[in-house]
Amino acid sequence: MQFTVTHKPSGLDALILHVTAGDKKLPAGTQHYDNLLDGLITEEITRLGFKGKPGESFIINVPEGVEARKILVVGTGKRPVQPDQIRQAAATAIKQARTHKLHTIGTPVTGGSRISKETVAEAVVEGAWLADYRFGKYQPDNTSRKDISFALIADQRNQRQVTKILGEAETEVRAAVLARDLVNEPPSAMHPTKLASVAKQIAKTHGLKVEVKGPKDITKAGLHALAAVAKGSDQPPQFIKLQYAPPKAKKHVVLVGKGITYDSGGINLKPSKGGMLEAMKMDMAGAAAVIAAMSAVKELKIPVKVTAYVAATENLLGGSAYKPGDVVMTYNGQTVEVGNTDAEGRLTLADALSYAVAKEKPDQIIDLATLTGAAIAALGQDFAALFTNNETIGRDLQEVGGYTGEKLWPLPLPEEYNELIKGHIAELNNAGTGEGAGSITAALFLQYFTGDTPWAHLDIAGPAWSEKDKGYLKKGGTGFGVRLLLHYLKRL
Ligand code: BES
Ligand code: ZN
Ligand code: ZN
Repeated sequence: MQFTVTHKPSGLDALILHVTAGDKKLPAGTQHYDNLLDGLITEEITRLGFKGKPGESFIINVPEGVEARKILVVGTGKRPVQPDQIRQAAATAIKQARTHKLHTIGTPVTGGSRISKETVAEAVVEGAWLADYRFGKYQPDNTSRKDISFALIADQRNQRQVTKILGEAETEVRAAVLARDLVNEPPSAMHPTKLASVAKQIAKTHGLKVEVKGPKDITKAGLHALAAVAKGSDQPPQFIKLQYAPPKAKKHVVLVGKGITYDSGGINLKPSKGGMLEAMKMDMAGAAAVIAAMSAVKELKIPVKVTAYVAATENLLGGSAYKPGDVVMTYNGQTVEVGNTDAEGRLTLADALSYAVAKEKPDQIIDLATLTGAAIAALGQDFAALFTNNETIGRDLQEVGGYTGEKLWPLPLPEEYNELIKGHIAELNNAGTGEGAGSITAALFLQYFTGDTPWAHLDIAGPAWSEKDKGYLKKGGTGFGVRLLLHYLKRL
């Protein structure tokens, strides 16, 4: 999708206008289009009984005198209109544009008392671009569809601001799209070595520092929990580090992403029914999010130092696989009894988190992980579970997520539940006792490896993946977390 900023578009296939639920007319900022058409739009709203609900739309042909052949009216839902309503409206518009083959479209960028022009422009770009996303690599016949060119129509005095926001939004969406692509790749293509090569490529393109450890260095460094999970796979594990260090940075943030490029469950094999085996290539969505975010930090001039770590491996089963009952040693020297080989993520994260804390001594550490099915049971697909030992980080992340449409909901880290992850013959057990609180016990397990470092853990098992097309989300990887991280880092 090609975006431009203009104050006077011409020859558009369609002009997109918003109507808020219950209004029965255009908002003040675009009312002049209705006047220009002698009330045609208002008439049509009444005639159709148009409610302005999300997903609702209609198209009218325009006689002449307006800069477009058609007007596409889209409902935004209730007032006060939030950024995500603008994203959803843009997604509806794109769907209609594709159906009716409208390839040059545009929309006026108008703010209101409750929402700024910048926010509207950004949300339109995000919603439209993410809605038009498809992973077409393996369907070459379908990839030849026409590119949509999208004009952001802004008054001359706002052009500069809108152009600046457009640039930032494009960088952020490009990163989110990269995360979707990485998740959507088949698991045998996006194996640990491939993921590492993607990280190296990003480092090269965007001027970041990169370090990758293969199996030998992983063992030498003492990352034994990662090595244990990797034992059942023919693919060598990779320990990936990406770093962005701007001069004069006052803070250092570490990002860690769960990087299981395929999770079969291991010897505790996932069941065909309900095990989501065909979706388990998404078990590296946390890694995809942090690597993709790193691809944008320099362009966005993020003011802090950012280091990303990914412990990448497959979780398979075979003659060499780690077994239930095994005891593994983590990087920080704790012993863990393997209660369940399907609780592999927290083992790899244990190493990545404790290694990052020891080596980087960061001011804060944030991990993103498709960690537990229990997070989906608790919060569904629309929310990630948020765990933190630091109120400020938690509040900021939740606030930013509300803005970017990547919603977080807090769950507790109760001291008492540490009982549930005690080992029988080792210090810890990776699986909990099965007495419930699956997402919490997983988070408590991770807490043993972050020490006193201000830390937030996002269990993104639900929102990282979509089972169907839904607004600006498409079936498959959603890119959840990328825009959240970038906006969060931007304001530090
Ligand atoms: N990758 C899964 C969690 C998951 C499940 C993500 C469904 C996305 C969709 C994780 O490795 C896992 O299998 N967790 C187990 C933990 C249990 C064995 C303690 C789970 O959630 O059942
Ligand atoms: Zn698992
Ligand atoms: Zn997993």
